[in-house]
Amino acid sequence: MKILVTGCKGQLGNELRRLLTTGMAEIGPIPAELKDAEVDYIDVEELDITDANAVDAYFADHIYDAVINCAAMTNVDGCEQMEDVAFRVNALGPENLARACAAQGAKFVQVSTDYVFPGNEPGERVESDPTGPISAYGRTKRAGERLTLEANPRSFVVRTAWLYGYVGKNFVKTMLRLARERGGMTVVDDQLGNPTSANDLAYELLKLILTDDFGIYHCTNEGICSWAQFTRAIVEGAGYSPDIVTPCTSDEYAAANPQAARRPLFSALKNEHLEQTIGNEMRPWQEALATYLKNLPELEG
Ligand SMILES: NC(=O)c1ccc[n+]([C@@H]2O[C@H](COP(=O)([O-])OP(=O)(O)OC[C@H]3O[C@@H](n4cnc5c(N)ncnc54)[C@H](OP(=O)(O)O)[C@@H]3O)[C@@H](O)[C@H]2O)c1
Repeated sequence: MKILVTGCKGQLGNELRRLLTTGMAEIGPIPAELKDAEVDYIDVEELDITDANAVDAYFADHIYDAVINCAAMTNVDGCEQMEDVAFRVNALGPENLARACAAQGAKFVQVSTDYVFPGNEPGERVESDPTGPISAYGRTKRAGERLTLEANPRSFVVRTAWLYGYVGKNFVKTMLRLARERGGMTVVDDQLGNPTSANDLAYELLKLILTDDFGIYHCTNEGICSWAQFTRAIVEGAGYSPDIVTPCTSDEYAAANPQAARRPLFSALKNEHLEQTIGNEMRPWQEALATYLKNLPELEG
């Protein structure tokens, strides 16, 4: 099997490379069919996915069975300031890749986000629930979902949330740094979601590409918490007191950070489609976080 991973220098791209190189995810071995896969890893230096001509030229020279797009503009507040740039990366980029995949019969994976939902309703969202993004990031990612599915029906659109990997920047690392450098932090306590290990997500993506069960998927670690609850677990797991976390409301956070994008209050996802197809092997978020904190000193990048 010949696979392309775009956005390979990001959090998810790095975990895909780790799994495909070692044959192991934290939750199990990768499928045997993928152990001898030939994989190309590229990032923006090799191919800017927003450049349709460059994408077509690249695919004229390379034939794949599956392409996993991990490239994105993920800075939620940055997207709010530069929605046009975000649209090119998060919507037109995936469309370019999906179209190129369709032309050569390749499967395509587009990774998306819980922020496509408005988040005004408690509970967990399933794949068929109506979307309604409230931020530029969410709007551009939702457009990317739609354009992907239109351009290549052999696509998997996989929504994840609150993602953290060993390489790159993420919320877990930021909270650990604040604990270390400032001895505490103030964190929103009224937005609920699912913290998700990029290593676990990468494992499910590799299982999905072996199927023909195309469509929209939710893929997050199991269990729901607020950002403040997540932070308490992070600092406690690293040996600090959970009391160093001061909870605040979204309104208080917005008043102190007027440039920040709005985030959904309730964006927890239910992995219903995974459960119905390859099975939902995603761990409880607390278990995935414990493994991450244990491995971070060795694997951090
Ligand atoms: N992070 C989260 O909490 C989260 C939550 C839900 C969903 N997701 C989704 O999960 C996926 C993976 O996220 P991640 O956290 O692994 O992302 P990431 O760490 O930000 O990595 C994204 C990679 O894409 C590259 N890139 C940006 N623009 C590009 C372009 N025009 N052409 C080619 N490559 C480009 C980036 O390069 P530069 O660094 O040089 O820009 C970076 O290496 C994304 O689709 C994201 O939207 C993430």
